Amino acid sequence: MNKRFYITTAIDYVNGQPHLGHAYEKIIADVIARSRRSLGQEVFFLTGLDEHGQKVQQAAQAEKKDPQIYCDALAADWQAFAKKLELTNDDFVRTTQLRHKEFVQAILSKLNDAGHFYKKTYSGFYSTKEETFLTEKDRNPDGTFDPSYGEVVELKEENYYFKLGAHQQWLIEFIEANPTFIQPNYRRNEVLGFLKSQTLEDLCISRPASRLNWGIPIPFDKDFVTYVWFDALVNYISIAAAHGDKTVLSTVGNSQLSTLNPQLSLWPADIHVIGKDILKFHAVFWPIMLKAMGLPLPKQILVHGWWQKDGAKISKSTGNVIDPIAVINEWGLDAFRFYVLRELDIGPDGNWTDAGFRSRYQAELANGLGNLVNRSLSMLKRYRNGVVPARSNELAADAAKAADETRALFKQSQLQSALQSIWGLVNRANKYVDETAPFKLAKDPAQAQRLDEVLYNLAESCRVLAVLLNPFLPGTSAKIYAQLGLTGTPDKLADAIWGGLQPGATIGEPAALFPRKDEPKK
Ligand code: MSP
Repeated sequence: MNKRFYITTAIDYVNGQPHLGHAYEKIIADVIARSRRSLGQEVFFLTGLDEHGQKVQQAAQAEKKDPQIYCDALAADWQAFAKKLELTNDDFVRTTQLRHKEFVQAILSKLNDAGHFYKKTYSGFYSTKEETFLTEKDRNPDGTFDPSYGEVVELKEENYYFKLGAHQQWLIEFIEANPTFIQPNYRRNEVLGFLKSQTLEDLCISRPASRLNWGIPIPFDKDFVTYVWFDALVNYISIAAAHGDKTVLSTVGNSQLSTLNPQLSLWPADIHVIGKDILKFHAVFWPIMLKAMGLPLPKQILVHGWWQKDGAKISKSTGNVIDPIAVINEWGLDAFRFYVLRELDIGPDGNWTDAGFRSRYQAELANGLGNLVNRSLSMLKRYRNGVVPARSNELAADAAKAADETRALFKQSQLQSALQSIWGLVNRANKYVDETAPFKLAKDPAQAQRLDEVLYNLAESCRVLAVLLNPFLPGTSAKIYAQLGLTGTPDKLADAIWGGLQPGATIGEPAALFPRKDEPKK
């Protein structure tokens, strides 16, 4: 059985509606998943929801709802959101599902039996918002705790702890020996800096059920539930187990869990896509948990930055939000997918402005790609009745350059650079129209052969673009194929090779891909 390319997103807290940040992460993962399929790989793409813990319990309480009923209602909205983004996820995990809960309990028992946990009483300051005990290091110089921790209360309680001390050194060595394990590099350096300068404190992996009961019961002590982060991280393997992954199943002794058919080979994950705020959980705690379970580590943690809007934090309370659904309804899904990936490289923080969005829409989508396809196909229709002329190779080298670069960049998950390469071809082809002036050639019967050449080069460039753009703009790419009169789907990068359009074939109907928004509606 071939191991699939396994890509995951963070699972979102289901305590409100999805916003731009959630959409961005899911689109990154979807484009990587589609690009890998386009490269010919078998892919498994997992996304979903983190439903336990204090945040969700409090949100449910605020609406006077039972937490499961609250989660079920919101989960429907989040699943509809995944569809709206046209995510090609292969499964959607909810941490309240039995398949996940049973697996978490099996792992907890295994780690407990192997002596990784101990129980102790701890008293300290607890942030409900972050669901974590704070230490002296978290205090401001004036002794207060940062408002970002929300309400901080003094608590004394017994809990289970996971021994982390023995893991610090090998983890440093692993990260040093595997430069692409955490990307971009500055995030890797951040983790190494932290691990080298601070002693890891043991991780509290339980919460007393008397204080917080919305969690997975600890199988060996009914007075406790599992800490939400321990529960949540395990989704990456519980779902692999549910699909019959042998590597993962072997850690819990195969038998007690029910698995789906066909059985897939998924673990280790190839890429965990996450935001910068949850780096420590993924780059420190998760590898240690896996090592303790005897499982291989994921191949890469790919860390994106955070979006702001108009230079300020996105915040519901100040009303500084972008509703992705409203943007998609107004401008189309592909325009939204394009903007977030073209505007922001995976790593740094980004800033959404409505003006910036409009200007990229107008310049790059409407006047760039849209205009190229529309004028190329309209001219072919008008001057040659839509019949593809004999092959000509004038733009073949430009198309090959874009395809080669895109292929290499897909393998590196360099999505913004791939879009830049692809637009290299869009711009070259638009310039070619200006240079060759087919509308002038059409007026001179002596130039008929030259016009044929130009029309072939333009139509074939559009076809290559449809293939290269498919992971980013699946709807637009399918429209370009249909307008070219092609029947298959442009979802294999191997088809980006020059010469796919068959002379003598008839194209379909040209139509605007990105309607101009500045013109008054007729
Ligand atoms: N439930 C945890 C993740 C558990 S993963 C095992 C969580 N959920 S979250 O809903 O708060 O965040 C989900 C993802 O959205 C995170 O990767 C986070 O970085 C990302 N984003 C949340 N707001 C964001 C922006 N404003 N911009 C970009 N991404 C942001 O953390």
